Parts: sequence; structure tokens; C-alpha cells
Amino acid sequence: MRDAAFDTPGSASTLSRSPVVNDPLLDVRSLGFSAGGEKLLHGVDVAIRRGSRTLIMGPNGAGKSLLLRLMHGLLQPLEGAILWQGGRMNASARRAQAMVFQRPVLLRRSVIANLKFALTVRGMRGAKRADKVRSALETAGLSHLARRPARVLSGGEQQRLSLVRALACDPELLFLDEPTANLDPASTAAIEALILDANARGVTIVLVTHDAGQAKRLGEDLVFLQDGTVVETGPVETVLTNPRSEPVRAWRDGRLYLGPNTQSLNNYPGRKN
Ligand SMILES: Nc1ncnc2c1ncn2[C@@H]1O[C@H](COP(=O)(O)OP(=O)(O)O)[C@@H](O)[C@H]1O
Ligand SMILES: [Mg+2]
Repeated sequence: MRDAAFDTPGSASTLSRSPVVNDPLLDVRSLGFSAGGEKLLHGVDVAIRRGSRTLIMGPNGAGKSLLLRLMHGLLQPLEGAILWQGGRMNASARRAQAMVFQRPVLLRRSVIANLKFALTVRGMRGAKRADKVRSALETAGLSHLARRPARVLSGGEQQRLSLVRALACDPELLFLDEPTANLDPASTAAIEALILDANARGVTIVLVTHDAGQAKRLGEDLVFLQDGTVVETGPVETVLTNPRSEPVRAWRDGRLYLGPNTQSLNNYPGRKN
């Protein structure tokens, strides 16, 4: 049931509000966050549909990573609320979520020890844990590297390990913050395949990306952030092919958007027509 206290409209600059989603898995309402006297997020409404793939896009500094950390409960909202299955975020809600960062965060231990540790922390032991570890290594194509120190793996292998480690904990929702930003096409394809496979098995995906191609390959719903607020939301194809807001149009056309009172730079030096 919606709480009337959260039903305040978002920012006036919001051109396309989130469509009404019945029973969202995660519901961000009128979210605001400030630090150092600066408003970093304001009036953010995002509804994550259960089982969906939602993309968060927008320029550097728009607040994408911050929004992800708030949605994952790593930070507390200063305004508005984040609801998990209609209730408050709590420890059990956080355990039902996992996060993969742009730069893999791995322990100074072997590949297999990284997997074992993540499962042990979640209370898993014995044969069940061994099965999970084996299947995660196979899924990631890392069985032959199981005893190798995780930190000597290539960037692509490290990110595959981070991803299968997150998935081994059976999250209902997986956050990914630019997981392929530093990877070559083959490594990117492997990560994308793992993401799509997890989603096909029911894991809800929330992914930050800068890559329009990746957005089209992976996305269903798109949330475009600019200057800490949502400027456009909708199906990925619709938003990217027919954007209604100037920031998204500028981004699609490769122009620099400098704000509502400034014409975006479409003739800057070096621009190719
Ligand atoms: N904990 C924090 N304290 C102060 N400023 C922060 C904090 N986290 C992020 N910021 C600032 O908020 C803005 C958005 O950052 P971020 O979410 O990382 O952007 P991006 O969209 O590139 O992921 C940036 O200006 C960043 O410097
Ligand atoms: Mg970021």
C-alpha cells in the first residue's frame, strides 16, 4: 500500500515519470541525498519491476553510483524512502541483494577461497557450499584457475569471478555498476551472457552503463539521470531512439549538455559530423 507521505511529485524537470508499477520489488520515492552542503540527488522516483532489467544511464557525476549505493542500503536516504517489497529496507532485504562494482573487489586469496568466503559469510557449509563453488567456477569458465590468486587474474576473469560470486549467494536483485567499463569485447560478451542468464533464472537486474549498445542488448527499462535527478524513464528502445528530453537527445547525438540554460555544444572543436 502506498504511503501518502511519499506521494509528493518529483522534480519539476522530470519529463517522464516512472510508469506505475504494481508491486515493485524495489521502490525509490522522492529520494534526496546531500553531502557537503550540495544536493547530489533530489526528487528521484524509480520503481524496479520484479524480474526486470533496469538500466541507469547518464553523464559522469549524474549520481548513478550514489543512487545504486542508496538502493543497496549502503547509504541512508536523507529525503524520501526506499522500499523493498513494500516494506522498509533492513538487513534481510540487503541480504537479498548483491552488488558488482566497476573495479572487482576481491580478497587477496585464491579464486576458490573468494567464492568459499562469500558463501561462508552467508552461513553455507559442507557439500552444499562445495556444489555452489564448483558450479560458480564452471559458469565463469574459471575451473582451471581455481587455485590461482584472484588478484593475478585478467580484468575479464576478475569481473567474471565477482559476478559469479555475487550470484552464488542467490540474490533476488543484482546491482552492477559499469561492470564492463574496462573490458574488451570478448570479456564484455561473457559478462553480458552471465547477466542475461541470471535474469532468465529470475534475478532482477539493475545496471549502470555508459554504453548505448549494451543498453540495447541488455535493457528493458531505462532511467536517465542528469544532475542528480531523473530526466527521462521508459523502455530502453523508446528512450534511446526517440528521447523527449534535451539531456538524453544531447547524449544520444554525442553533444555536450551543459545545463537547461545553456545550448549544448554541437560545434565543439574536434566534433565529427
Ligand atoms: N559520499 C559522498 N560524499 C560527497 N560527495 C559524493 C559522495 N558520493 C558521491 N558524491 C558526489 O556526488 C556526485 C555523483 O557521484 P556519482 O554517483 O559517483 O556519479 P556517477 O553518475 O558518475 O556514478 C559527484 O559529484 C560526486 O563527487
Ligand atoms: Mg559511477
